[in-house]
Order: sequence, then structure tokens, then C-alpha cells
Amino acid sequence: MIITLTLNPAADKTIVVRDLAVGQLHRVRESHLDPAGKGINVARLVDRLGCPSIAFGFLAGEIGTLINRALLEEGVQNHFLLLPGQTRLNVTIFDEATGAGTSFWDRGPEVDVEHLNSLEHDIQPWLGTCRVLVLAGSLLPGAREDIYAHYIELARARGVQTILDTDGEPLRLGIQARPTLIKPNLAEAERLVGRSLPDVPSVVQAARDILARGVDVVVISMGARGAICAQGERVWHAIPPTVKRRSTVGSGDSLVAGLAVSMDCGQDIVEGLRLGTAAGAATALVPGTALGTPAEITRLLPQVRIEPFA
Ligand SMILES: Nc1ncnc2c1ncn2[C@@H]1O[C@H](COP(=O)(O)OP(=O)(O)OP(=O)(O)O)[C@@H](O)[C@H]1O
Ligand SMILES: [Mg+2]
Repeated sequence: MIITLTLNPAADKTIVVRDLAVGQLHRVRESHLDPAGKGINVARLVDRLGCPSIAFGFLAGEIGTLINRALLEEGVQNHFLLLPGQTRLNVTIFDEATGAGTSFWDRGPEVDVEHLNSLEHDIQPWLGTCRVLVLAGSLLPGAREDIYAHYIELARARGVQTILDTDGEPLRLGIQARPTLIKPNLAEAERLVGRSLPDVPSVVQAARDILARGVDVVVISMGARGAICAQGERVWHAIPPTVKRRSTVGSGDSLVAGLAVSMDCGQDIVEGLRLGTAAGAATALVPGTALGTPAEITRLLPQVRIEPFA
């Protein structure tokens, strides 16, 4: 069983236009509305990979109801607490002419201590039944920046492994609580180590430096160039198959889902890396914020290369 925690979910509105121009009226050629938020993406993909899971977090207002309904329709087991206010509606405009996306990310509702305590109270019994807790995405206004660190400590006390996928201060503080695995992308890893990572050897060095802070496994994802994974003395380069890229939004969440599933099954990290890399590529194949399908993941799996790094 895998638990995902999404403190600040969102509904993603994707609009496709041609020749985006500021201050002009545009006819929309295509539009989608999808449930989103990193932990929710992970939960949806874990569910598609056939692994039991439950998604926890906060929802608010009509947008929250919409996300809840979408998860129910997809059959994703969830337990969201209701907040006053409104869950985020993030808007991305894709310009067909240039292929460029322009995004507007909302803040999300405010949370108070009572609601944070209720969430912890509700998760506690589930920690006794699961093997992996995934903490993913940004915090919501009102949450302390060390909240992920706190959940990592709670999980460890119950023998639960943790995967942390976030950015900035919540990532830095989370690492101090020694999560099992972290999965920054290149930009997040650069902010974490405080230097630019222009090539694969510099990424390997960064992964080793982060391991030394007390994390068991560090996976730094590099988009189409795959990911560097470091565990103990060992380092691998996971190389995805070349696919016709439509949108990589959610590819990192798909990688996390693959890693979580294999961790839950007690498999070797290499198997998680393989499954996650295939899932990331499958998500890159589909447009907007849609996630890869199990059929695509199965098709791509044998094409993933995992190379030990000398
Ligand atoms: N264009 C692509 N072709 C094939 N595989 C890809 C492509 N883009 C991403 N992937 C796979 O997905 C993994 C994660 O992608 P990426 O590094 O873009 O994550 P991310 O920036 O965290 O994404 P997000 O946070 O939006 O989910 C990569 O390590 C790679 O295996
Ligand atoms: Mg990411």
C-alpha cells in the first residue's frame, strides 16, 4: 500500500490557441480540465500500475469537488479534508504555432493548525498499514516549511519508507529528516546544491553530495536525457527510449510513481528506475497534463536502458 500526500492540489486548465498575443481575443481550438497536483498525479499512476494506494490532502470549494469527482470516476481511493476557500485552478495556454506553453499558477487556500492536526490524525492509522509514503509538491499557505520533515519522522517511527519530491526550503528541511528517496529534477537539484549542473558528471557528483546528507537514494531527473540514480557507492544512468514528445508535464510524477511501486513490492532500486523511466516516457507521449497509459508503459519498458556509471 502506498500513501500519497498532496497538500496543495490543483485543477489544471489547458487551453490550446494559435498565435498567442497579449491583449488580443483568441478562439480556443482545444481545452481540457484535469485533476492535478504532484501527489495526485503519483496516486493516479500508481493506481494505473495496479498497486493499492490512497491519496491524502486538502481540497476546497467547487474546484475541490471537481477534483474529488474526477478521482472517484477514475477509481483512485482518496481521503481529502475540506478547507474553506477554493482549491487552485492553474491555467496553461499552449500556442500551436510555436509549441510554447504559458502557465499561471494560483496560490491555493489557507490552512490552519486545526486542519493540519486533523490530517495528521487521519493519516496515522494508515501509516500502520502501508510501506511507502510519497510527499510531493508545493506547500499551501499556512503550512510550516518543515511539514514534510515532520511526516518523514512520523513515517520512520512506523517503519514506512518515504519519497520526497518538492523544491526549495521544504526539500532542504525534508532532507534533514533523512527520507528514503528524493527525486529532484535538474533545476531543483541545482537550487539544492547551490551550483549549476551542466553535464552528467556534475549531476553524479551532486547526487553523491546529497547522499552524504543522509538520504538512501537520490534520483536526479534530466528530462529526455533520463535520470542519474545514486545509492550507497553505486550510481546508474537510466536512459529512456526516444519518443515523440507531446507534453512532459507529469513525467517526473510518473517516475516517482514507478519508484514507489517497486519500493512497495520490495524490489531492487534498478527495477523501480526502469519502471519509472518507462512511465515518464509514456507520459511525455501524451498531450497536456494527461498521464501515460499502462499499455504504453508495458510497451516502453524493454526499451529502457540502465547503465552503471563508471
Ligand atoms: N522527452 C522525453 N522523452 C522520454 N522520456 C522522458 C522525456 N521527458 C521526461 N522523460 C522521462 O521522465 C523522467 C522525468 O522527467 P523530468 O525530468 O522532466 O521530470 P520533472 O521536471 O520532475 O517533471 P514534472 O515535475 O512536471 O512531473 C525523466 O527522467 C525521463 O526518464
Ligand atoms: Mg517534478
